[in-house]
Amino acid sequence: MSAVKSIAILTSGGDAPGMNASVRAAAMIALSKGITVHGISRGYRGLLEEEFVELSPDRVATIFREGGTTLHSTRCLEFHKPEVRDRARSILRKRGVDGLIVIGGNGSLAGALALSDPQEAGDMAPAVIGVPASIDNDIGLTSMSIGVDTALNTIVEACDKISDTASAHDRSFIVEVMGRDCGYLAMTAGIAAGADLVLFPESNRPAAQIVEAAVKAVMGKRRAGRSSGSTLIIKAEGVNLATDELKRRLDARLQEELGPAPLEIETRVTVLGHVVRGGRPSAFDRLLGSRLANVAVRALLAGQTRKMASWMPPVELPEEVGHRTDDDPYCWLVDLPAVLVETEHLLRGDSPLARWRASTLDGLEEVFGL
Ligand code: F6P
Repeated sequence: MSAVKSIAILTSGGDAPGMNASVRAAAMIALSKGITVHGISRGYRGLLEEEFVELSPDRVATIFREGGTTLHSTRCLEFHKPEVRDRARSILRKRGVDGLIVIGGNGSLAGALALSDPQEAGDMAPAVIGVPASIDNDIGLTSMSIGVDTALNTIVEACDKISDTASAHDRSFIVEVMGRDCGYLAMTAGIAAGADLVLFPESNRPAAQIVEAAVKAVMGKRRAGRSSGSTLIIKAEGVNLATDELKRRLDARLQEELGPAPLEIETRVTVLGHVVRGGRPSAFDRLLGSRLANVAVRALLAGQTRKMASWMPPVELPEEVGHRTDDDPYCWLVDLPAVLVETEHLLRGDSPLARWRASTLDGLEEVFGL
């Protein structure tokens, strides 16, 4: 028999397609074990404002098809304050909640870690298990987070459409994609959508080099007399050169290359923005959300805390940092503090994984230019 009798589930930070599948699976599995399940609306802010909702089988039955999060979400900066977390812990205690599942990105996982810190909270610390959800794929020690696959499919579909019209008019397109400080979505979309150039923050290129790479991508195909003179440049939003500025400087350099006659090469910009984050979750994201939730709930019921359910970590892990679960051979349970440390390295671009991603894409640039 588990000591945990009542759990709560919240989604926090930027929504990600597949969060609902995760909520549904967590709720259904816990309910099947006779555990009381609360949903908390609007993340940590909703916790502080006691927005508890019932998560009955009826309520969660079909939410897995929906994008966004039916529990709603917020970014709650107040949660950085210890006294605010004290209030949150008192509310959980008053409601009889023994354990919390936090579905979200790195800010939300950092909140979960602080909330469950035994040094800060003593015996008021709730048990907490994290589930990685962010379209950016910038969370350490998991090879995928919930929402990435759907976002990638959305980008590829958009780029395919843009490529049709680009090719019809021999135009160049710069397509900006979300990802905050992480270039993963741009990199993978670059391969999947057949881009001629991918720009991502991890390469740390100075602005002048970015512009020259774009000139090379546009001019290279024309000089080679390729049947289509269109160019697709995918640019991560975290690149340190604004997309409009890149277009302006690219046009100016093309004018220099081609002489004073009116510029025949047209460059257009499409910023995909929040379109990338919405939409019905892919089958993979529904499965990923459900399988990670399964591991998270079972870990909570087994008395674990300060861990994150992870999908096949991309690095070797010592036993004390993480282990493959008995519940699912693709899912691991990893140490939450270690996740946050690795996340920082990923975002700074100095983890082996970040370096591998960047060097692979840098190495592909010559291939893309063919
Ligand atoms: O972290 C997910 C994400 O969609 C990032 O890709 C993006 O930079 C950010 O959130 C946008 O945040 P907001 O919706 O708060 O503008």
